[in-house]
Amino acid sequence: MQKIKIIMNGAAGRMGRALAQGLGARENMSLAAAVDTKASDVDYGLLCGLGELGFKQELDLAAAIRREQPDVVVDFTSPAAVMNNVRTCLQLHTPVVVGTTGFSQADYKQVAKWCADFATPAFIAANFALGAVLLMRFAQQAVKYMPHVEVIERHHDQKLDAPSGTAVTTLEMLAAARTPLAQGNTQEFERMPGSRGGELDGMRVHSVRLPGYVATQEVVFGAEGQVLCLRHDALSREAYVPGVALAVEKIVQVKDGVLIQGLESILD
Ligand SMILES: NC(=O)c1ccc[n+]([C@@H]2O[C@H](COP(=O)([O-])OP(=O)(O)OC[C@H]3O[C@@H](n4cnc5c(N)ncnc54)[C@H](O)[C@@H]3O)[C@@H](O)[C@H]2O)c1
Repeated sequence: MQKIKIIMNGAAGRMGRALAQGLGARENMSLAAAVDTKASDVDYGLLCGLGELGFKQELDLAAAIRREQPDVVVDFTSPAAVMNNVRTCLQLHTPVVVGTTGFSQADYKQVAKWCADFATPAFIAANFALGAVLLMRFAQQAVKYMPHVEVIERHHDQKLDAPSGTAVTTLEMLAAARTPLAQGNTQEFERMPGSRGGELDGMRVHSVRLPGYVATQEVVFGAEGQVLCLRHDALSREAYVPGVALAVEKIVQVKDGVLIQGLESILD
């Protein structure tokens, strides 16, 4: 069997290590290189629990792509770095699967343009945990009947962006599915700035950052005499491996220069 050859970008990070371990252990995939802005003298396979792989973390993504000619780059880096990384991959005609969060609508447009210009596909998803994607679907169904809704997301305290990409996508999906609505008391005021959280289309979002969490999201619907709470917990980073593997398997089949957005777009 021809294995799918992967370069892991952000390889020293929490997600990079977990994904390298999970994807590298799959029968149909192999890790070709590990790229990060942090170098290491230790064999990368030993760092991510795969046994010796014969290469170390390296710093230059473009050089690694030119040398290895991978089938796909998987990028879990940082919101500040990701656009450059995506452009590098696409310019070198290398499909890229991106889990890094922080994309604006303008960023998505730009990536779609690069995909078309360089005739190479990209796959971007704010959440690769299948359970979280199902939660978004169920929430979209529920909001039609219970339109008063708030989102609470909880992550580890080293996360850079807030609210999470998943929370933003969830709110956008809710906004698309419900009739616009003014929620809460029009006279409401905050004793402390930010106490009512962020807001999208009248819906509030609250971001908790504490050590111990990986990623949790609750979507809470309120109606007369009842509350419905949908909740997903990613208990470890292994939660993301099957979703990223699905995206990798999908993108190597795609021959056009298209941007695929969201894991939900490839689920039945
Ligand atoms: N889509 C999802 O399902 C999902 C799930 C979890 C985390 N994330 C996102 O993935 C990203 C990474 O999360 P994390 O917890 O692993 O963060 P992390 O800080 O542990 O790791 C990020 C790594 O990227 C490296 N890096 C930064 N800039 C780089 C560049 N230009 N080139 C190469 N490497 C670079 C850093 O040195 C670091 O090792 C974040 O944006 C996070 O929100 C997405």
